Amino acid sequence: MKILITGAAGFIGFKFSEYLLNKNYSVFGVDNLNNYYDVKLKKKRLLELQKYKKFSFKKIDLKNSKNLENIFKKNKFKYVFHFAAQAGVRYAIIAPRDYINSNINGFFNILDLSKKYKISRLFISSSSSVYGDLKKFPFKENFNLQPNNVYSLSKKFNEDLSKSYSNFYNLNVTALRFFTVYGEWGRPDMFIMKFINSANNKKIFLLNNHGNHYRDFTYINDVTKILYKLLKKKYKNNYEVFNICGNRPIKILNVVKKLKYLLEKVKIQNVKKHKADVYKTQGSNKKLTNAIGKINFTSLDEGLKNVLNWYNLYYKK
Ligand SMILES: NC(=O)c1ccc[n+]([C@@H]2O[C@H](COP(=O)([O-])OP(=O)(O)OC[C@H]3O[C@@H](n4cnc5c(N)ncnc54)[C@H](O)[C@@H]3O)[C@@H](O)[C@H]2O)c1
Repeated sequence: MKILITGAAGFIGFKFSEYLLNKNYSVFGVDNLNNYYDVKLKKKRLLELQKYKKFSFKKIDLKNSKNLENIFKKNKFKYVFHFAAQAGVRYAIIAPRDYINSNINGFFNILDLSKKYKISRLFISSSSSVYGDLKKFPFKENFNLQPNNVYSLSKKFNEDLSKSYSNFYNLNVTALRFFTVYGEWGRPDMFIMKFINSANNKKIFLLNNHGNHYRDFTYINDVTKILYKLLKKKYKNNYEVFNICGNRPIKILNVVKKLKYLLEKVKIQNVKKHKADVYKTQGSNKKLTNAIGKINFTSLDEGLKNVLNWYNLYYKK
């Protein structure tokens, strides 16, 4: 059985590809290897995947529907996991067009080809940011969404358009609302990696909102296990949406304290809240655990320890 993974050189796409390959699935990865963050890290992830015989890769941009269709034509994919996107809420304020290109146009190509080539189920990446700056916690899947920037709006549009394809064309779709995923091989534009990089390079770390906001950090190896269970699950509905989170929000300042104790080198400069940031994310995972059973979430302490070990072994310059 062959599975298409878009964004295979990205953080979650890479880790999930690796997970599937270890379970002996055939994985076809695509990615445009854009330079939103360290391209060397993306290439290193690909080198890890290329150690597996059952991994193939093609560098393409999802905007290019012809190239993408050729891949669907030549391979009989049973499932598609769509992770490729322009990520990040802050960058959305700076480069909105990148989000329209990848998250709207690129997304449409994946959705439409999944319909045309009768994919058994398409899994799409949504985000906790679709909830917006809500003050009612924990966020539940049936809440009214209040996205307010081009990133979160693009993710809500992805969900809505998938739902419509489910209705009109019976396409099976599972939408995955990820909450601040972190771990080994993580994204350098996100808080934990940024902080470790600042310490390592003896740079000043700009701490948004003095660290007074909360995030529901979710460890990557928990995420890959969840994704696998969602792949194996029998679905009653064509369209489903799940929060992917531990429902364990933590104040950023407390994460800084944990990291400061580990690193002791970083110089912190407090700055005011970034316009694009929300105060708190906290997701309910009741719907998820009802669907796939109990999940033993990794503690933040253990997750951070693993990130630091990986960083020192593989990433530190
Ligand atoms: N990491 C998180 O905490 C988090 C939280 C919420 C949602 N998400 C979503 O999950 C998905 C995966 O996130 P990630 O953290 O792995 O991000 P990532 O940036 O590491 O991975 C995305 C990959 O997609 C590729 N890509 C982007 N545009 C493309 C295009 N037009 N054509 C081909 N490839 C393209 C990039 O080169 C990158 O390697 C994204 O859709 C993201 O929005 C992630």
